[in-house]
Amino acid sequence: MKKPTQVVFLGVLAILSIGIGLWAGMQTGSNDKVEGYPDLGGDFTLLSDKGPVSLQDLRGKVVPIYFGFTHCPDVCITSLSAIAAGLKQLDDSERAQIQPLFISIDPERDDPARVGEYARYFHPSMIGLSGSLEEVTKVAKAHFVIFEKVPLDNSDMGYTMDHSSIVYVVGKDGVIKTLIHHGESPDNIAKALRDALAG
Ligand code: NI
Repeated sequence: MKKPTQVVFLGVLAILSIGIGLWAGMQTGSNDKVEGYPDLGGDFTLLSDKGPVSLQDLRGKVVPIYFGFTHCPDVCITSLSAIAAGLKQLDDSERAQIQPLFISIDPERDDPARVGEYARYFHPSMIGLSGSLEEVTKVAKAHFVIFEKVPLDNSDMGYTMDHSSIVYVVGKDGVIKTLIHHGESPDNIAKALRDALAG
């Protein structure tokens, strides 16, 4: 059972994510796929278990980015599974031009090794990223990710993280082309990735 406060919080998240979509849409004055969201996100460098990864080094690739945490009970699992299922619908040459990233908003528990292993569990090409709380917060804020630490009573976990759930599809030029909202089908995710590959 979800506590009423959690239900309210998720409702607020849903409204905020719609708001962000509208706000970003107004910035470009067009739909998601044509011009994208030049004022959202931006370059960053975070840590993988194989060293630093910079978004600016991934120009020429389409980069779906998802923010979450490895102790997430459900939301991240649903989203990362859907991304993996979407990738599976593409062919090898398309997949070679796509670099999925999973960024932890819980770096206190998710070091690069842990988040890296977690990301690869969903898809072998997915890179897990972490960093200091300050670094991760800066990147999350640039994407208007909403997240909050929530203490858990009677649990060994100690706390969970409430967080918004959007896949940011960064195009080959480094500009976010599409926001994939929570619950999109793998078909629609595959389509969004293909559209981004086409420019
Ligand atoms: Ni999650």
